[in-house]
Amino acid sequence: MDPDRFRAQFPSLADTTHLASCSQGAVSTQVTAALGELAYSLRDQGAPWGPWMTEVERLRTAAAGFLHAHPDEIALVPSASHAAFQAVNAVDFDDGGVIVSMASEFPSVGQVLHAQRPAREQMRWVSQDAMRSLGVIEAYRAQIGSSTRLVSIPFALYTNGSLQPVNEIAKHARAVGARVLVDAYQAVGVVPVDVTQLDCDYLVTGTLKYLLGLPGIAVLFARSGVEDHQPPRMTGWFGRVDPLDFDPALLDVPTSARRFESGTPGIPAAYAARAGIEVLSHLDPAAAWAHVERLVAETTERLTAAGETLNGPAPDARPGPQVALVDADPVALADFLAARRIVTAPRGSNLRISFHCYNTTDDIDRLCTALAEYRRQA
Ligand SMILES: Cc1ncc(COP(=O)(O)O)c(C=O)c1O
Repeated sequence: MDPDRFRAQFPSLADTTHLASCSQGAVSTQVTAALGELAYSLRDQGAPWGPWMTEVERLRTAAAGFLHAHPDEIALVPSASHAAFQAVNAVDFDDGGVIVSMASEFPSVGQVLHAQRPAREQMRWVSQDAMRSLGVIEAYRAQIGSSTRLVSIPFALYTNGSLQPVNEIAKHARAVGARVLVDAYQAVGVVPVDVTQLDCDYLVTGTLKYLLGLPGIAVLFARSGVEDHQPPRMTGWFGRVDPLDFDPALLDVPTSARRFESGTPGIPAAYAARAGIEVLSHLDPAAAWAHVERLVAETTERLTAAGETLNGPAPDARPGPQVALVDADPVALADFLAARRIVTAPRGSNLRISFHCYNTTDDIDRLCTALAEYRRQA
């Protein structure tokens, strides 16, 4: 793992400290080239559906490889919200039943789940207070019961990046026969995620953050053999056995995860995502994650020593690729840093500082120097 060589693929890093991969990853020359390829295909062929579909299938295979899934277990959808909708609607709620999720679930996923079970008693939220006092596993266990049908667990929290004990929570979900949905958007691309080791039925992620692509496409892993309660109600020609059948009255559904797809995929995003995954595929995932873990530990240590307040993991969660600094006005702080070309991601009361394989100790130095200047001015 040579961060300097890896870094060289991201031109913006020559003059920018990119600490915002939890929001949008830095753009590599490969992603820019892929967009150029798309532009060329449009100029050259006018309506290049063939190359587009080839690119979409390359992305499916690349995403499957990255997650240790089979390509048939991957649906390419417009957003994580769409993926969450498809997963929850595959679950049987005919006799009622409850969804358990947590207060730190990313809103778009949490809101989609909530919208399917609108009554308060059909949705149980694991509170932040409970997670802090009991630990995440016990806090979930307290909400899971015989009527639970779906348990949703973020792999890494968007608030502070902390890694949740997914398998330990899933054990309690399995004990009552519930399905498990995992939102791994804040981890995939930097934390190794292997669906053969992870006890979940569905996993969602998007491509613009640590996967180093752009907005417009997301990935739904749907474990093979997990049956749908009903055929997907959000559908379209890309969700058909043969999209080119063109019979509007025909609602045949493939057995593969493609059944969760709907309309034309976000083609520019597919080009970018395939290129982003390609860039990452040259790294050793364990070494890359170890590098990021070291940067997170060093940042935590230095900011704590500087007297900053951090929003750390719950007792039984682990640090992820992000450090969350608590501040009275994170947007003002982010603006101050941005003026010095240090990109961070404010959310709520946190300034999120996130790391990828292209980050180095120099980035931490620049952040700490600028932060000290900001505090002096304040
Ligand atoms: C954990 C997590 N899930 C989901 C999303 C976004 O979902 P969507 O693709 O629906 O915008 C984000 C951030 O953008 C996120 O951090």
